[in-house]
Amino acid sequence: MSDAHGPIVLLTGASSGIGRALAVMLVDRGVTVLGVTRRPAALPPGVVPVPADLTQREDILAVFQQLGRINALVNCAGVAYLSRIIDGNPADWEEMWRVNVMALTLCCQLSLRHFPREGGRIVNVSSMSGHRVPPTGGFYAPTKFAVRAVTDALRAELKSAGSPVQVACVSPGFVDTPLLDQYFRGREEVLQKTRESMTMLAPEDVAAAILTILEAPTHVEIGDILLRSSDQRM
Ligand SMILES: NC(=O)c1ccc[n+]([C@@H]2O[C@H](COP(=O)([O-])OP(=O)(O)OC[C@H]3O[C@@H](n4cnc5c(N)ncnc54)[C@H](OP(=O)(O)O)[C@@H]3O)[C@@H](O)[C@H]2O)c1
Repeated sequence: MSDAHGPIVLLTGASSGIGRALAVMLVDRGVTVLGVTRRPAALPPGVVPVPADLTQREDILAVFQQLGRINALVNCAGVAYLSRIIDGNPADWEEMWRVNVMALTLCCQLSLRHFPREGGRIVNVSSMSGHRVPPTGGFYAPTKFAVRAVTDALRAELKSAGSPVQVACVSPGFVDTPLLDQYFRGREEVLQKTRESMTMLAPEDVAAAILTILEAPTHVEIGDILLRSSDQRM
């Protein structure tokens, strides 16, 4: 992850949950973290604010117009609504699709010209809901399946182009972050029971897995990490 002038990581979702925990760990290691957020004031100390609304393509383009060299991109921003296929609000599907899939994919594409010749790493955050569909999960799971497919497609394209940029996907189970409050809105009792029934992953647990990918030696390519609380059934 490092080069002569110190490593630089572009991190979406740096203001909350998993992304925030990762930002703190990276800053502690002396890494320059460029934190993409709609809420610069919520970033942890030491993170360089990069204001952008990831539902807006112009905002994403502006992020990369201002950007110099980076050594890694971590796509951690995400939105989760419990919005079913049979009766969910299409506006919720659209926001999830824009942030979880379109913004992530565009950030992958636009980042490529910012890596040094020796390469770098992209880490995309999917979910256990990108590996099996929870019965009540609605449109969130399809977006997370798409994150895995985008990651695999990008890896194949980069390898056939001879690019040294590596791509990985991290898929956590339940992580105790504000995202769950949003996901279970209107079903707070289900969230409370879930919290009582298990020790969920902490954001730092997932951040540590992402760090393992970022810090692996160059000849070691970690493609996928799945992690969940040992209390989680599926
Ligand atoms: N928590 C879980 O149980 C869980 C499980 C599996 C996977 N994941 C995935 O892990 C990732 C991080 O989730 P988390 O739990 O840490 O969530 P979180 O605490 O709710 O944080 C979500 C982050 O996404 C950013 N974001 C959302 N919409 C955005 C937009 N339109 N423009 C810019 N930034 C936006 C937020 O930034 P601002 O609001 O500051 O703009 C915030 O930093 C997500 O991809 C999520 O799907 C979470």
